[in-house]
Amino acid sequence: MREFEVSIDQATPTVEGSIERPWLFGYRLEMLQHFQEAFPDRPPEVVYYPCSFTDATPSAAFPDSRRVIYVDIRDRPVRVLIGAGKEAYRASAEEFLPDEPVDLLVLKGMPARPDQALGTVTWGGYVLADEGYDVADEVNRHPDFRLAGLIHYERATGGIWRVPPDELLTLPPPSRSYRSLSVFQRRAVCPVG
Ligand SMILES: C[S@@+](CC[C@H](N)C(=O)[O-])C[C@H]1O[C@@H](n2cnc3c(N)ncnc32)[C@H](O)[C@@H]1O
Repeated sequence: MREFEVSIDQATPTVEGSIERPWLFGYRLEMLQHFQEAFPDRPPEVVYYPCSFTDATPSAAFPDSRRVIYVDIRDRPVRVLIGAGKEAYRASAEEFLPDEPVDLLVLKGMPARPDQALGTVTWGGYVLADEGYDVADEVNRHPDFRLAGLIHYERATGGIWRVPPDELLTLPPPSRSYRSLSVFQRRAVCPVG
């Protein structure tokens, strides 16, 4: 077993959703919970999930957060989330601005360009990005963010492992799997003068 491997004895079942009901993805829940265990320095108070469709997994993963903000450009998924008691907005993620900085930005399966969303992340805050639509690569190239880790879901074993930063260079930057989340942290501002 790798040093940073975490075995999951019993994978959390997926609660099936659709365009009519919110989704709770078991493997995504495990990955988000693992992120919180692996990076405990900043329990997220405000979570932002643009291009969410009806995926409400972050609400289950971060029950102690003050807000989880969902955005989708389509009306139907947003109404489904609001109907389930979530804070959701119909808007383009390329234009939407939450009314306060966010501690954690989830970019999963995001077809929109992430620049606007990245600007909402507080200094020291985190971004979780998958490789769908090359978004993780785009965050990786952004000068304000540093790659801090990788959380990988192994479908065959149901295990999740975390790659420590000093091993990241041995991997293709940052990850090619839809079931991997690259963890980025917004760099702190350097004092001027
Ligand atoms: C591939 S689905 C991914 C859904 C979810 N994030 C997941 O990983 O299961 C992409 C979603 O992004 C939404 N979308 C596309 N362009 C958008 C934009 N510019 N702003 C907000 N949502 C957008 C679509 O309506 C769709 O629900």
